[in-house]
Amino acid sequence: MYDVYQIRRDFPVLNQTVNGKYNAYLDTGASAQKPRAVIEAMRRIYENEYANVHRGAYHLSELITADYERARETVRGFINAADSREIVFTRNATESINLVAAAWGRQNLKAGDEILISEAEHHANLVPWQLLCEEKGCKLQVFKLAENGAFVWENFAALLNDKTKLVAVTAMSNVLGTVYPVKEIAAAAHRVGAKVLIDACQLAVHHKIDVRDIDCDFLAFSGHKVYGPTGIGVLYGKLDILQTMPPYQSGGDMVANVTFAKTTFDEPPARFEAGTPAFVQAIGLGAALNYMQNLGLENITAHETELTAYAIEAFKTLKGITLVGTAPDKGGVFAFNVDGIHPQDLCFILDKEGVSIRTGHFCAQPIVNRFGYESLARASLGLYSTREDIDALVAAIRKAQTFF
Ligand code: ALA
Repeated sequence: MYDVYQIRRDFPVLNQTVNGKYNAYLDTGASAQKPRAVIEAMRRIYENEYANVHRGAYHLSELITADYERARETVRGFINAADSREIVFTRNATESINLVAAAWGRQNLKAGDEILISEAEHHANLVPWQLLCEEKGCKLQVFKLAENGAFVWENFAALLNDKTKLVAVTAMSNVLGTVYPVKEIAAAAHRVGAKVLIDACQLAVHHKIDVRDIDCDFLAFSGHKVYGPTGIGVLYGKLDILQTMPPYQSGGDMVANVTFAKTTFDEPPARFEAGTPAFVQAIGLGAALNYMQNLGLENITAHETELTAYAIEAFKTLKGITLVGTAPDKGGVFAFNVDGIHPQDLCFILDKEGVSIRTGHFCAQPIVNRFGYESLARASLGLYSTREDIDALVAAIRKAQTFF
C-alpha cells in the first residue's frame, strides 16, 4: 500500500507552509526534496565518522571508506550494473557527460564522424557534444520529435548510419515528459557500431533502470534529482570501455605511481575520481536510492502514472492553456503556456498561492523554441506529489487568469 500522505511526512520541507499556504511543490524535475533518511545519513557521517576516504589506515577513515564504497554498490544495484567498478561518482550528470565527451570522445572520434542526439536534449547532453564536434570536426546530427513530442522511430533511424559513432539521448524529456524507447535505440545504434549514452536524469526519478537490459555503454544521472544531495552525480560506463579511457581530470587518488618523469593511472573508477570526492554526498545518495528502493520503484511509477493521468484531466478543465508535450508515453512533467500570462508572472502568482513551479527554457532551449516559445511554465511530479498538489496548481492558475 503506497501511502503518499505518510511518505510526505518523511520530507521536512514539504511539512511547512509556503507564503502561509499548503506547500504544493511541483518542481521535482529541477531538484527533488530530501527525505529525512538522507539528511540523517549525512548528519551521522559528520557527527560520528568523518575523515577522508581511501587515505587513512585509521578507524574513522576505514569506516568512511567502507560507507563510500557501500554507496557505490547501492548505485550499482539501483541500475543493475554488473560490477561496482562501472560506477563513477561525479559532481552531477553534467560532469558525467563532460567526462565521456573529454575522455572517450577525444580519444575515439575523428573528423567526419557523427554524434546523434534528439532535439529535446537538455543542455547537459547537447553542449558537450557541440564543443566536441567543433574540436574534432565531427557533425552533430539532431533528430526531430512529433508535434505532440512523441519519439518518431523513422526520424531517428533516418539519421543513424555507419558514420554515427555515438547516440546520446535522454531517457525522458525534462520538458515534454516523453519517455524514449532506449533499449531499442541502443540496439539500433549498436547495429551500426555506435556507442550509446543515456541521460537518465529524469527517468531515474520515476522508473526502474536496468543498464544491462538497456545495454547502454554509458548512463548519467544526478543525485539531487533522485532525492539525494547536491554535488553528487553518477556515470555508469561498461567496464571494458572505461578501462580504455584516459583520465578526465588528474591529481590525487587516481594515480598508480607518480614520478617527475612519468605518472601511471589507477583502474576505473578511481581513475575518474581525481581529488577528494564528494563522499558524504555519495553516502547521502546511497541513502536516497535505498529510500526509493524501500518504497519500491514499481510503486513509485504506479503512483506517478496515476497522478499524471489525473493532472492531464485537470489541465483539460482549464481554458486558454496549451500543454507542450502530449505524447502517449508521457511521464509526470507538464510544460505549459497560459494565454496572455507570461510564465514569470504566472510563477509569481502561483508562488503566492503556495505552488512552486519552474519557468523559462528548463536548460533545454532548442525544444522550447521549436514549439514557438521563448519561455514556458512547468510543473513536475515526484514520489511525494498528491492530487492536492494538482488541485492547488489548477486553482492557482484559475486565480491568475482572473488578474489578466
Ligand atoms: N535541467 C533541470 C530542469 O529540468 C535543471 O529543471
